[in-house]
Amino acid sequence: MSNDSHLKPQTSIFSKGYDPQRSEGAAIPPVFRTSTFLFKNSEEGKRAFEIAYGLSPAKTGESPALIYTRVNNPNSEILEGKVIVWDGAEEAALFASGMGAISGTCLTFLKPGDTLIFSDPVYGGTEHFFRALLPQFNINTKFFPADASMEVIEDLVKNDPTIKIIYLESPANPTMTICDVPGAAAIAKKYSIGNRQILVMVDNTFMGPIFSAPLKMGADIVLYSATKFFGGHSDLVAGFSMGRHDLMVQVKAYRTILGSNSDPDTAWLIHRSLGTLQIRMENQQKNAVRIVDFLLSHPSVERLAYPGLDCMGQRQIELWKSQFTGTGSIVSFFVKGGAAEAYRVLDSVKHMKLAVSLGGIESLIEHPSSMTHSDMTAEQKNNAGITENLIRLSVGLEDAEDLISDLKQALDKV
Ligand SMILES: Cc1ncc(COP(=O)(O)O)c(C=O)c1O
Repeated sequence: MSNDSHLKPQTSIFSKGYDPQRSEGAAIPPVFRTSTFLFKNSEEGKRAFEIAYGLSPAKTGESPALIYTRVNNPNSEILEGKVIVWDGAEEAALFASGMGAISGTCLTFLKPGDTLIFSDPVYGGTEHFFRALLPQFNINTKFFPADASMEVIEDLVKNDPTIKIIYLESPANPTMTICDVPGAAAIAKKYSIGNRQILVMVDNTFMGPIFSAPLKMGADIVLYSATKFFGGHSDLVAGFSMGRHDLMVQVKAYRTILGSNSDPDTAWLIHRSLGTLQIRMENQQKNAVRIVDFLLSHPSVERLAYPGLDCMGQRQIELWKSQFTGTGSIVSFFVKGGAAEAYRVLDSVKHMKLAVSLGGIESLIEHPSSMTHSDMTAEQKNNAGITENLIRLSVGLEDAEDLISDLKQALDKV
């Protein structure tokens, strides 16, 4: 394998993490569709387990034998070796879904009696995990508004020594609210004393890895639904957890036992999507910017939620400028009226597809209040700004003019 540390991610992903000589010279990694791997001898098997179970770390340059596909597999390892380039992570762990990555990573670092605090809103599944499931294990959760000042977060952390994780989703799904990642990281550092280590985790699904890199802003772990931009074609479900080697060793040990690793075919498909990740995200963003311009001028649109817009307020604009290199391709907008008007738009579009998920090459449109975030109570939705007239649009790679005409004819019916 070449030393590619000086290369840009768009170049290094083509060679990093894969040695063709170990695969009969195959230019692209074959799919290693096997459940188990043969050891050369018992000693090799013993050593592989010691490393995989975190009993004794791998020495520099030591390449442990593969064991069993729930533990590791060449396709997942090749992929994990490549996807770290954008975020500058030391190591990545592939999961069977974004929720697998989020739940597996949180459970790795939380014990009964600990508390996790999270920015509100977050993706509906994450929300359910935090509010309904973690408390069943005697793990407390508290939330703060995604745009909370650092004083609010510091007050929480200072007054509650059980807080072990500050969890941020930025921008938030679906309100696009941006969190202060460096601010939260500074608080975590300040109060991580002795046995108390506070981790900052950031769900970077909406803007990462191309337009935002939270690890470079002080976060400890970055999380992804790889179902979205990484996969990019709405044909797979997967997730990533990324960060320092010492943290990922622990995450992978949990992943093995929770059984939430992905499979070789999925890993191979994501690997195939990596070469076009940057170009897809940039072109989807170009389309989104044109759609935002159109929506700003349509009389049936009350307001938009999109990074950098004046209507997001001065502090949000400053946070966006200091943490992101783009605006992304997820556009939330509020139609004039309520659920009936929003449904009219959703049921009238002809080329955008009415479906949840996002980040794929085709535009998807949905109603967060009654779909992705339907599990929240009316009060929780209200506090988080998930109103009935809110529509979330994930802009794809169709022709921008066609997308605008499609939206126009739907909005004209409101
Ligand atoms: C921001 C965000 N994080 C996590 C997830 C969960 O990912 P998955 O569906 O791959 O489990 C989603 C899914 O929509 C999401 O939007």
